[in-house]
Amino acid sequence: MATTLREAATRAGMRVGTCCTPKMIEADPVYAATLAREFDCIVAENCMKPKYQAPERGRFDFTEGDKLVAFARAHGMKLRGHTLAWHTQVIPWVADAAFTRTEALEILHEYVMTTVSHFRGGVWCWDVVNEAVTDEGGWRIKSPWFRLIGPDYIDHAFRWAHEADPEVRLFYNDYGLELPGPKANRALRLVRTLLDDGVPVHGIGFQGHLGLDNRFDRAQIIANLRCFRDLGLEVQFTEVDMGIPQPTTPEKLEQQAEEYATRIAIARDLGATAFVWWGFTDAHSWLPTFTKGQFDDGLLFDRDCRPKPAHGAVLRALEQ
Ligand code: XIL
Repeated sequence: MATTLREAATRAGMRVGTCCTPKMIEADPVYAATLAREFDCIVAENCMKPKYQAPERGRFDFTEGDKLVAFARAHGMKLRGHTLAWHTQVIPWVADAAFTRTEALEILHEYVMTTVSHFRGGVWCWDVVNEAVTDEGGWRIKSPWFRLIGPDYIDHAFRWAHEADPEVRLFYNDYGLELPGPKANRALRLVRTLLDDGVPVHGIGFQGHLGLDNRFDRAQIIANLRCFRDLGLEVQFTEVDMGIPQPTTPEKLEQQAEEYATRIAIARDLGATAFVWWGFTDAHSWLPTFTKGQFDDGLLFDRDCRPKPAHGAVLRALEQ
């Protein structure tokens, strides 16, 4: 019986990961030790986003990302790169600017080429484009790249990333693709078109921010996710958490454990190559802030980095 997630996951042929921050790794030895012991894949929660890596025109800053490359190397982990083109946490001087299409293409080209080249060999997968479609199944027009360039910013971003590092795995990443509906259909059409056009997209990232109240039909989810895999794409779960509607009770923690076991089983059924949480200790999770306190305690370790029932359930699900 394995005692750590990464040991169990290795046997199951999958990586287990979490987002993290270089600051916490430096500040808290328990945080760093838990991370290194339990996971074999990390992703920057924020510091590798364009907002931080391209603070001013003509200046890039990869200092924090480099720390994660070093941490991953030191502990035999893979690093997911997150994310090159998204509609929030964008390059600050591009956000509301009035560049021409040609200028915007140049800026995106320079950002993608510089970033992906910089991290060549250190990053395993890039979330090249994040959340390009809306819940209603339209384009996310508030992305500055969409506004300035049009939908083909997506094709360009993938082609340039591939040019900068032909080895790195390139992902389209989004939330809410689990359930059938307009969003999943739109995303499916998007990646299918990219593939038909010969755009180098290798994988699909299912974020998996689904709360404990989100009871869903397992067969329906599997059928929907299989549509993506059946395009020949590599599948990863990239930002999983399971917020508990407040207040948290021991019963809800048990339900959460059970539900996590189901999600792992779904990931294994799909042949997912990674299952990545959006954090590991409830002391550091975006959930309470994002949901204004309505959801919390969505991760595998409590505020003191002690394993919760969900940790044991995930271990067992990985070993089955
Ligand atoms: C979130 C971070 O967790 C927050 O700290 C930050 O303020 C906003 O972004 N989908 C994504 C992630 O792809 O990058 C987001 O991360 C959560 C939703």
